[in-house]
Amino acid sequence: MTRPTVVTTIAELRAGLAARAAGRGSGSTPGSVALVPTMGALHDGHLALVERAAELADTVVVSIFVNPLQFGPEEDLDKYPRDLEADLEALDPFDVAFVFAPTASEMYPKGAAQVHVIGGPVAELFEGRARPGHFDGVLTVVSKLLNIAQPDVVLFGQKDAQQVFLVRQLVDDLNFPTKVEIVETVRADDGLALSSRNRYLNGDERRAAVAISRALEAASSGADRGIDAVLAAAQSVFMDERLVRLEYLKVVNPKTFLPVDDGYRGPVRVLIAARVGSARLIDNDAIYLN
Ligand code: PAJ
Repeated sequence: MTRPTVVTTIAELRAGLAARAAGRGSGSTPGSVALVPTMGALHDGHLALVERAAELADTVVVSIFVNPLQFGPEEDLDKYPRDLEADLEALDPFDVAFVFAPTASEMYPKGAAQVHVIGGPVAELFEGRARPGHFDGVLTVVSKLLNIAQPDVVLFGQKDAQQVFLVRQLVDDLNFPTKVEIVETVRADDGLALSSRNRYLNGDERRAAVAISRALEAASSGADRGIDAVLAAAQSVFMDERLVRLEYLKVVNPKTFLPVDDGYRGPVRVLIAARVGSARLIDNDAIYLN
């Protein structure tokens, strides 16, 4: 595959996209643009989004930007892995037209955007409670990226379920003319969801981290016996795993992303956040409560 054109400014990306739009319209959906927003440190989870993007659109843009606005003061902004060369190599097998890798000052010339997107009540729950302001930072940068690239379709991973819910709400509530496409979670052979933060794990922690996906499997096995059985089954997996500290285990209605009441029957999503060593990991799965 031809290597993508790497652009670091908004003006270059817009000019590049305009030139392509003017010059050609080949492919299954002529002239259409797909955007895959990432923070780099690309792994097979990200690459599944890129692969799907290439199926859906003529021009694929991958953005690589470690967005300071979505990190709290005590979080891993400084140590978050950044390696553009490795990321470009990972993208090599795919048909990517542009990698948009702006600096923080290109995205936030005033230090931070003065006008922010506020995620609303769901942004305050779960990940939002553990990471105040996180989703406002995510939704602000996603809004900027959508306005910059003006894609027909934008792709996100199901691994970040609350992010998916809030991005869909963003696109609906603010009328972005963009389709949102979701790609299933890509996992390692033992079940651990791939994440850039898995790099923070040492060997023992990596082995222990599989408890998170095991707990989701256990939750699913309790689905026939109601919500209490689901929670108990998932919780029991963490009992003898001292390297994994469960932060939350929640069962939400996928329509509202709010916790379901006792006695609820229907589709739900089980959400887990846990600390393993210095890494904070999240995962989720869809199950059906009978
Ligand atoms: P990042 O964590 O780099 O993830 C980029 C995209 O890849 C997200 O849509 C995420 O859900 C998806 N992804 C990560 N791991 C995955 C896996 N194992 N399987 C499938 N998809 C996976 O999420 C962000 O960046 C940022 O919040 C961003 C949206 C780029 C805004 O800054």
